[in-house]
Amino acid sequence: MHYVNWSPLFSVKNPHIDQQHRRLFDLVNEFHSAYKSKENKDYIFSVLNRLIKYTEEHFEDEERLMRASGCPKDLLEHHLKEHEKLIFDIFELNNELHAGKQKSINELERFFDKWLIQHVLEEDKRYLDYVNK
Ligand SMILES: [Fe+2]
Ligand SMILES: [Fe+2]
Repeated sequence: MHYVNWSPLFSVKNPHIDQQHRRLFDLVNEFHSAYKSKENKDYIFSVLNRLIKYTEEHFEDEERLMRASGCPKDLLEHHLKEHEKLIFDIFELNNELHAGKQKSINELERFFDKWLIQHVLEEDKRYLDYVNK
């Protein structure tokens, strides 16, 4: 059972970005199930690394698209700050796990609910009208 499934509810009506969000959902699911089934540590951290790398790529792409679409400056700046915070949070999770701190599955799910789902549903949807003009 996947932790979260992408559905049209998450669409920002941009096929390129939707595709990237689907990939992020896949990576979060992969990490979630590796952690849940107590796979070996190297594997868990390799998935988390891939998730972090892909997130950085996605944010760069999304920010480039927002800039090119003439998004209002305050919206763009707010979004950049949110991305910065999300990167900080995922690195913090990575550091905590590396330091041997255990996370329950509930804690992880709460983290990703906020980290991924809430961001896509609330923040990413705000650029929809500009990017899809
Ligand atoms: Fe975003
Ligand atoms: Fe996004």
